[in-house]
Amino acid sequence: MEKFYCPECHRTYFVNTTQWRCDCGSPLDLGFGPQFPLKKILARSPTLWRYREAIPIKKDSSILSMGEGLTPLEEMEFSGRRVWVKIDYLFPTGSYKDRGAAVLISKARELGIKKVVEDSSGNAGSAIAAYCAKAGIGCDIYVPESTSSGKLVQIQTYGANLRKIEGSREKTARVTMEAAKKTYYASHCWNPYFLHGTKTFAFEVWEQMGWKSPDALVLPIGHGTLLLGAYIGFKELKEAGKVKKIPRLVGIQSAACDPLYQGFVRGLDEAPAIMKGETVAEGIAIAEPVRGRQILRAIRETGGEVLTVTEREIGAAFKEMGQRSHFIEPTSAATIAGLKKYLKKKKGKEIIVSSLTGTGLKAVEKIEISGKGRNL
Ligand SMILES: Cc1ncc(COP(=O)(O)O)c(C=O)c1O
Ligand SMILES: [Zn+2]
Repeated sequence: MEKFYCPECHRTYFVNTTQWRCDCGSPLDLGFGPQFPLKKILARSPTLWRYREAIPIKKDSSILSMGEGLTPLEEMEFSGRRVWVKIDYLFPTGSYKDRGAAVLISKARELGIKKVVEDSSGNAGSAIAAYCAKAGIGCDIYVPESTSSGKLVQIQTYGANLRKIEGSREKTARVTMEAAKKTYYASHCWNPYFLHGTKTFAFEVWEQMGWKSPDALVLPIGHGTLLLGAYIGFKELKEAGKVKKIPRLVGIQSAACDPLYQGFVRGLDEAPAIMKGETVAEGIAIAEPVRGRQILRAIRETGGEVLTVTEREIGAAFKEMGQRSHFIEPTSAATIAGLKKYLKKKKGKEIIVSSLTGTGLKAVEKIEISGKGRNL
């Protein structure tokens, strides 16, 4: 049976619609028994729903789908080394957040929810708004005022109520938590069903690599929903006896906002409070990652690490990816800059998978401003 459990104090809760954190304050995880029937998976259409028995939605009629998932895994070469990159900006709303939103809002529909609130740096809000529109569920999306206008217009186009909050991303989160006292909190950071959508990244990589785990995943980390999803997915595959190992998790942060890097290199259990500087990588500009303890644990358990990249390195990676025909968000350029750094550090023959998580089309003004003034 599905249940919520706390990774810190190990309390358990029945799945319900109001509890979004443990009584001890920690985010909750979801206990669930996934299965991986290969013949059935292969017979299904190329979407993330092909891993149906591993996704915690009870009834098929609850599923909301726009054909999302099973994104291309492109082979690329960096400094003479082969790397595989998931093209996750090809999701319907232009970012990998659709993995989480499709599953979370399908669950909200199954639970009979009529309205949700969510806070985001933009992409998660766009994804939640799109799937809510499909479900006929009302939604209020809270974003920092400085969010790229492409994402704001997108959220409004899906019919969500857009609430722009003056000040930091953290202030936006605090305002939303107040609203979440009365309305279902469809939070990509707090709600564990979101991670049970982002975990499909792992299932797709497993299938596309010939039913094997790669050696390492190089992924961006803000709140870490892709990295934790990948960890959960490979852990489930390992526990089901489908793969031998969970890949090494390598997280990439901007040097201007690096709480997880600081926590990692200082050997801390959680991400420390940091002073946040300016970065063009708005998707990973998270000073207080909600699941910081879990992210650090997962990275250490898999023998991974955290690397940071400068604004100049992000700019160079952005240009290079353009020349390779990929118009990506600066946040995704940060991942590529980190991947290049990891390749330099780590000689040898590791099989490495990374991801292009968001399209550049939504962040045009940030790219233009940065281009004129500074880095891109
Ligand atoms: C394009 C893009 N990539 C990566 C991330 C980082 O995701 P997370 O905060 O879950 O680590 C975000 C978050 O908004 C994003 O928009
Ligand atoms: Zn607890």
